[in-house]
Amino acid sequence: MSRFVGARVVVVGGAGGIGGRIAERFTEEGASTVVLDLAPRTEAVVGVPAPRILPCDLVDAATVETAFDRALAELGGVDVLVNSAGILARGSLLELTADRWDLVMNVNARGTLLAMQHAARAMIAQGEGGSIVNIASMAAKAGGNDEGAYAASKGAVVALTRAAALEWGEHQIRVNALLPGYVLTDMGADTRTPEDVAAWSKKSPLGRLGTPDDVAGFALFLASRDGSYLTGQAFNVTGGMIMH
Ligand SMILES: NC(=O)c1ccc[n+]([C@@H]2O[C@H](COP(=O)([O-])OP(=O)(O)OC[C@H]3O[C@@H](n4cnc5c(N)ncnc54)[C@H](O)[C@@H]3O)[C@@H](O)[C@H]2O)c1
Repeated sequence: MSRFVGARVVVVGGAGGIGGRIAERFTEEGASTVVLDLAPRTEAVVGVPAPRILPCDLVDAATVETAFDRALAELGGVDVLVNSAGILARGSLLELTADRWDLVMNVNARGTLLAMQHAARAMIAQGEGGSIVNIASMAAKAGGNDEGAYAASKGAVVALTRAAALEWGEHQIRVNALLPGYVLTDMGADTRTPEDVAAWSKKSPLGRLGTPDDVAGFALFLASRDGSYLTGQAFNVTGGMIMH
């Protein structure tokens, strides 16, 4: 398929497991793609040329601005933004420090806001609408046992998604969130055991964990013309682990 010929796509967190596959699939379908990431590992992104994989620390607003300036200059504008950067933080709420909370919120929630602002300003100036896809998490709805700060940050992403959809709809900018379940990537790999994989797999009626491709396929659908009447939504991509 070639749904994105001529489209200009920015994937924040595009050197990660899910973001990397999203960037790869947009490129396969004809898009010009720029990846922004804290760790701009060129080997992690298939199909995107190295000069289009740029450093960006979402915690540092100045580097986000510089990275977007470079991305917009490289692409000549932006039609699609995917926010896939994120960090997981495990630990009980009773032990959670203010610094840890700030870091998780700054990367996952404030970082999503900063990227959306840069992209939306450009989309509004272009006057041709656009699509923003934010990767939240099932934790936004399910609570997140032992990952309360992460769950709260993803809840903020869902609320931001809805607020942005309301504000920017008049500019034909659609904003949606995806809520993945448990996807096999580097995230959480340091503590993952075979028992965890088996237990989580059983939570899905499909009996398996998610893959980056499961999430990427839906992200591309949302950004495509087929998603033209979808905005302000939070879609579960969990293999049925949650159904509300
Ligand atoms: N893997 C899962 O099970 C799962 C489940 C639900 C939601 N998600 C969400 O999906 C998204 C992608 O996760 P993933 O599984 O690909 O994880 P990943 O760790 O493979 O990728 C995350 C990417 O974010 C980047 N990043 C981290 N901090 C950053 C910062 N300060 N500035 C810029 N980039 C930064 C990392 O360098 C990395 O490339 C995340 O938002 C995550 O919360 C993942």
